[in-house]
Amino acid sequence: MKLLITGGAGFIGSNFIRYWLQRYSNDSIINLDLLTYAGNLDNLADVARNYTERYDFVQGSILDARSVDKLLGKHRPDVMVNFAAESHNSRAVLNPRAFFETNVMGTQTLLDLALKHEIARFHHISTCEVYGDLPLDSQEKFTEEHPYRPRTPYNASKAAADHAVRAYFETYHLPVTISNCSNNYGPYQHPEKLIPLFTTNAIADKSVPLYRSSQNRREWLHVSDHCRAIDLIIQEGKVGETYNIGSGVEKSVEEITDIILDTLDKPATLKTYVPDRPGHDRRYLLDSSKIRKELGWEPEIDFESGLKGTICWYVKNRTWWEEMCQQAGAEAVKEEGWEKR
Ligand SMILES: NC(=O)c1ccc[n+]([C@@H]2O[C@H](COP(=O)([O-])OP(=O)(O)OC[C@H]3O[C@@H](n4cnc5c(N)ncnc54)[C@H](O)[C@@H]3O)[C@@H](O)[C@H]2O)c1
Repeated sequence: MKLLITGGAGFIGSNFIRYWLQRYSNDSIINLDLLTYAGNLDNLADVARNYTERYDFVQGSILDARSVDKLLGKHRPDVMVNFAAESHNSRAVLNPRAFFETNVMGTQTLLDLALKHEIARFHHISTCEVYGDLPLDSQEKFTEEHPYRPRTPYNASKAAADHAVRAYFETYHLPVTISNCSNNYGPYQHPEKLIPLFTTNAIADKSVPLYRSSQNRREWLHVSDHCRAIDLIIQEGKVGETYNIGSGVEKSVEEITDIILDTLDKPATLKTYVPDRPGHDRRYLLDSSKIRKELGWEPEIDFESGLKGTICWYVKNRTWWEEMCQQAGAEAVKEEGWEKR
C-alpha cells in the first residue's frame, strides 16, 4: 500500500510515519509537509536514513491544489491521512485566520483532490476539542453523536473541517473516516505544548506557567497508542464513520506539573500561576467505547510510565528542543502563557 501523509513532519505525523514503516515492510509513504515553525525534518532523520526506498518527503502546502494534484498524479497513493494543521490553541487566539485557512480550506482542497484521484480511503485526524468542554464535576463523556460545540478558533476550525469531510462522504461518496483523539503526549512534541513546555522549562530551571484554573483536566493518550488506533481505523474502520480515541485517563494541569517536577527532582517553587487563556476549556472526556468494541483497540501505555519515558526523552534530546524553541515566535507564545492545555 502507498500512503500520502500530510503534516508528517509534526509531532503525531512523524510518530505515525515511523510506526507505519516499521510495521508494514511492503508499504511506502510520501510525506507532504509545508514545514511551518511546527514541522521539523529532524523528527524523521532516522526514517529518511533507514527507509530510503520506501519514504519520500515533499515540501509543500495542502492549500496548493496544483502541486498536490501533480503529486497525487505522480505517486497514485491508495490512502491519504491528513495530519496537517495549525494545532496550537494559543496561537489561534492571536491569529485565527491562519487556522481557518489551513485547517478548513486546506482540508477541503485535499478532499476535492482525493475525489478526483479516486483515493481508496481519506482518513482525517481530528480532536476531542470539537465537542466543547465539560464542567469539572460532570459525569458526562463525549460520544461520537455528541453535538459539536467548539469554543476556540482552533477547535472551530477543526470542527468545520470534520463537517467538510463528512459532507464529501454524504454528497460525493468519498470513502472517508474521521478520528477524534484526546490530548497526545510523547516524543517529538513541540516545546510550546504543555508537557514539553513544562518539562523543558524545568530541565532549564525556568518557571513553569500554570493557568490559574490549574484544576482543569485533559484526557491523555500516548502518541503510539494513537498511531495504533489510526492504523486499525484505516484497515478495519467503516467508511463514513467517526471514531473517538481516548485513554479514559484524566489529569489536571497541577497533577501533571507535580509529576514532571518530581521526576526531574525540581522544586515546587518553579510553579507560577498566570491568567487563563480566553475561552480556556475546563475539561474534555471522550467515550471511546465504539473503537474498543468494534475494532478491539485498547491503549497499551500506562500514563505514569509513558509520561516518565517522555520526560526522559526530553532530557536526552536537549539539542532537538533547544533548536525548536529558537524558531519563529515560540518564545513569544511561551511568555504569553497561552499554551495548549
Ligand atoms: N497534539 C494533540 O494532542 C492532538 C490531539 C488530537 C488531535 N490532534 C490533531 O492531530 C494533527 C497533528 O497534530 P500535531 O500535534 O502533530 O501538530 P503539529 O503542529 O506538531 O504538526 C502539524 C504539521 O502540519 C504541518 N503543516 C501546517 N500547515 C500545513 C500546510 N498548509 N500544508 C502542509 N503541512 C502543513 C506543519 O509543518 C507540521 O509539521 C492535527 O490535525 C491536530 O489537530 C492533535
